[in-house]
Amino acid sequence: MGRRVIADDVVKGILAGYDPEKVVIAAYCSHSSLQIFHGAKREGFRTLGIHERRKDVRYYDAFPAAKPDEFFPMDSITDILDRQDELIEKNVILIPHGSLVEYLKVPNFEKLRLPTFGNKAVLAWESDRSAQREWLVGGGLLMPMEVKDPRDIDRPVLCKQGGAKGGRGFFIAKSHSDWVKAISEGDLKAEDYTTIQEYILGTRYYLHFFYTPLRDDGFRVGEGRLELMSMDRRDETNIDEMYKLGSQTELKDMDIYPSFVVTGNIPLVIRESLLPKVFQMGEGVVNKSIELFGGMVGSFCLETVITDKLDFFTFEISARIVAGTNPYPTGSPYAAYMEDNISTGQRIAREIKEAIRMGALESILS
Ligand SMILES: Nc1ncnc2c1ncn2[C@@H]1O[C@H](COP(=O)(O)OP(=O)(O)O)[C@@H](O)[C@H]1O
Ligand SMILES: [Mg+2]
Repeated sequence: MGRRVIADDVVKGILAGYDPEKVVIAAYCSHSSLQIFHGAKREGFRTLGIHERRKDVRYYDAFPAAKPDEFFPMDSITDILDRQDELIEKNVILIPHGSLVEYLKVPNFEKLRLPTFGNKAVLAWESDRSAQREWLVGGGLLMPMEVKDPRDIDRPVLCKQGGAKGGRGFFIAKSHSDWVKAISEGDLKAEDYTTIQEYILGTRYYLHFFYTPLRDDGFRVGEGRLELMSMDRRDETNIDEMYKLGSQTELKDMDIYPSFVVTGNIPLVIRESLLPKVFQMGEGVVNKSIELFGGMVGSFCLETVITDKLDFFTFEISARIVAGTNPYPTGSPYAAYMEDNISTGQRIAREIKEAIRMGALESILS
């Protein structure tokens, strides 16, 4: 059986015109771009930083090993749709990350012809929380229980808005009256809160995986290999520091409410005895993705909470490089046990290099 192809005919045609010797790795200047450029340079690629003209890119001067060889300024990120021919001319392969997808918006990102790392078909399953649930639960993962109707809130729940807003605007409720109060006092729109989810008490682990369809050794999954690159915990303001000021009830009286705005990432390792469960979850997600949409390729992250019964509850998946990999530009406590101790950014570049050598870009780009 031949290797699965994820590129459509348009992307295949564009790739056919690329000079394999002159491939340029591009990323949007934010999120994990330092790591992506650093990794690509280490693998010998030229790099290009796409940014909005108003963005201050001077900080790259402070990090020469991670500064793109060339900048590509635009008035607005959505101009990339009109200007992709210029990028195609330069033999560009785009490495997408969460900020690019968020700012460009999913429908625009899906329209890109510019060869992009990973399978774009994942977006239909990732960008909608109920489709995500079907995928993850279908892959055998536990998820926090969902409350369909706010009148049924009978335990602590987290009320979430749609789309990746970095936890902005979320609130915790413990009863229906809490919900009504939060909506009315915060002047919020009830219909924005499309997900009401059981609040899982435990420790948070954000697990960073890499799935390669190009290798059939190591931890075999589907037709390829599953790798565990690293893990992190998000630093979230103000929830992570709230306890210092008193109980949440006390704080409510002062009009202070928890928020979940990500400000950074903390490196982590997990108890070794939990690794079998970690791989089981990664495997379930990959296998189900192959069944649902032809398979995820490359980096993905499972966002989990582990309870004191040592059960993992997954509340979200992100199907590309996450900023949680940034603490590991020169490798992680897991990458150290693999062939080479490298970052996720470098792992992506190496995958592209390998695919060029094998003539298999159509299997990792879409
Ligand atoms: N069910 C849950 N139980 C406990 N904490 C949660 C739950 N779901 C999300 N969180 C917390 O809220 C944060 C943001 O939630 P998430 O669903 O990842 O939204 P976003 O799309 O903004 O990343 C998480 O990083 C985590 O700290
Ligand atoms: Mg999240």
